[in-house]
Amino acid sequence: MTIRVGLLGYGTVGKGFAETIQSHQERLQNLLEGEPVEIASILVKNPTKKREFPHSSLVTTDFNELFLQDIDVVIDAIVGEEPAFSYCKKAIESGKHVITANKQMFAKHGKTLKKLAEKCDVSLGYESTTVAGTPIIRTLSQLLQVNRVERFEGILNGTSNFILTRMKENKVSFDQALQEAKDKGYAEADPSNDINGRDAFYKLMIVSELIYGKQPNWNEVFVEGIDVIRSDHIEEASFMGKKIKHIATIEWKDGDVRASIQPIALTHHHPLYAIDHEQNGVVIHTDLAGPLTLAGPGAGASTTASGMLEDLVHIFQKTNRKTHQLL
Ligand code: NDP
Ligand code: HSE
Repeated sequence: MTIRVGLLGYGTVGKGFAETIQSHQERLQNLLEGEPVEIASILVKNPTKKREFPHSSLVTTDFNELFLQDIDVVIDAIVGEEPAFSYCKKAIESGKHVITANKQMFAKHGKTLKKLAEKCDVSLGYESTTVAGTPIIRTLSQLLQVNRVERFEGILNGTSNFILTRMKENKVSFDQALQEAKDKGYAEADPSNDINGRDAFYKLMIVSELIYGKQPNWNEVFVEGIDVIRSDHIEEASFMGKKIKHIATIEWKDGDVRASIQPIALTHHHPLYAIDHEQNGVVIHTDLAGPLTLAGPGAGASTTASGMLEDLVHIFQKTNRKTHQLL
């Protein structure tokens, strides 16, 4: 049998996913009892965009056409809440597994999709929504079995961290650093959410759902991006031996979930002080295991493909064993 993929989106993430399937085909087949993984169809938005790639004959702009192909799994690598939510919903209702990297959609609709996937007996992977291929979701899912997570803090946006690092270390301007983050595929096509803190907010809400089974009231979360930071803030912090980092925090306090997202000047004692460039990092404060730090690339084509392919292997190894557990 071949595992047939319906790919939504062929930008940084979608293209990276398709290329990694090719480059890692042998490894995938070894993990999947010899079953090849192939792209069956690719959905894009703009039919006139010039595209030169091996799968060009598979491209469509009609979501329903995807379903004319016999696909096993839908990979969501498009942008924003809609139509991504409707597409993922339809895929699950049609008995397809779904893997998404789309944090904006998943922060709002993850709970609904998880319930639906359970009802329809399919799997839903979302590792790459949060810190791309660095396995935060899988680590938290494992830890949650016995440990209680008392507090979670993280650098959750690669673009912000890259800009702060370039401004501090190389004294480049905010705008130049942002352009570099775009060129490297870290920033979103519209980078507003990267720099105003909204992207980190979506990721934090996904983590909140996973850790505490709920999200705080979105309107009550303090969200400040790095767009308030100027070079003199960075120099001032530097003079005091500190680095400004964009920190997202969530904890259980007074019987509810409390969250905030803001730039904070950290001393070198803080585990996230050393996380630079596009790297992300999280500190998970647990009651049994103590504080655990996990760091790795949080943006870019290959790390995001890594998270999605780990999900894919997890799903199809499970499917082969006839068990359907949500990640
Ligand atoms: P891009 O903007 O590079 O690519 C988006 C792709 O989706 C394009 O191919 C676009 O089509 C297609 N698309 C957008 N809207 C629609 C629509 N309504 N219908 C059909 N196709 C559509 O984005 P990225 O690849 O960077 O990101 C994709 C997703 O992954 C986003 O949700 C992002 O937040 C998330 N993500 C991104 C990471 C990164 O490092 N870049 C890391 C982790 C997650 P067309 O080509 O025709 O314009
Ligand atoms: N634009 C995002 C970032 C991509 O910079 O972190 C990863 O979600």
